[in-house]
Amino acid sequence: MSDAVPLFTLTPPSDAGWQRLVDRLRRSVGLILPATSGARVVARLTPRLRRLGLTGFDAYAALLDEGGAELAVALAMLTTPETDFFREPAQFELLESEFSRLRPARLRLWSAATACGEEAYGLAMLLSDLQSAGRIGADWAVLGTDVSEPRLRSAIEGVYAEPRLAPERLRHHALAGALSTGLVQMQPGLRERVRFARHDARQPLVADERFDAVLLRRLLLYFDAPTRRVVVAHALAKLQPGGLFLVGAAEQGLVEAAGLTRLGSGVFRRSVDRP
Ligand SMILES: C[S@@+](CC[C@H](N)C(=O)[O-])C[C@H]1O[C@@H](n2cnc3c(N)ncnc32)[C@H](O)[C@@H]1O
Repeated sequence: MSDAVPLFTLTPPSDAGWQRLVDRLRRSVGLILPATSGARVVARLTPRLRRLGLTGFDAYAALLDEGGAELAVALAMLTTPETDFFREPAQFELLESEFSRLRPARLRLWSAATACGEEAYGLAMLLSDLQSAGRIGADWAVLGTDVSEPRLRSAIEGVYAEPRLAPERLRHHALAGALSTGLVQMQPGLRERVRFARHDARQPLVADERFDAVLLRRLLLYFDAPTRRVVVAHALAKLQPGGLFLVGAAEQGLVEAAGLTRLGSGVFRRSVDRP
């Protein structure tokens, strides 16, 4: 007879508990949980409930009702970390052609909601190549921010599973030799150009500088309209007049803000005379 410990099963949310969870997350963090997302929510939050020693989802809804830091943890767990180094290549091409045309001596880019950092490193690879080609100056840097601390720790580490079809630019910037192990590691020269910090996009970013481009891709889709407006306003507050603002191509209809001209799918330019 096996003396294995029986599997510990969590009590699924009751109808009232589910509604409480949905209402709390919407009211407190602006997160929209569609009615069809129940199974996904249970799967995503189960490890967290186990870690907290909770036996069911109604108890977790009660914990969220207390407010505090757990709300940000839930927000991060219920938004996917899925990303890529050069997701939406047309947007990267547009950045490349804009920077090549303007030939700036100095560039500052912000990858907000960067997840595990691929997007921020992808931008750094682009800028590094533009610098090597003499199309931008040497004074450039990238900031990557996310609400999730575990994701930021991975970003700082800068080690990733090698994509099945690693683009040439990634191969060039990954540490030599690392590719054969199935992992890619960002080169030190790239890592020193990218800084990561925790930031909740619903709050203003505390930074002295303004950015030449702000990428806020695949975050708006999770939020209700009032929260989206706040998040976009905070992002634009840190964008230089004339700077570029990028959201996911599928999210461009969710951007409600004055003083933006659309340049491409999900890409806007902030007008120069906007206060
Ligand atoms: C789908 S990923 C986006 C990754 C990347 N921007 C892209 O488009 O490939 C969504 C990220 O948003 C982060 N996130 C969720 N709520 C956030 C918030 N309030 N502030 C900042 N980041 C947040 C999550 O932790 C997650 O890493």
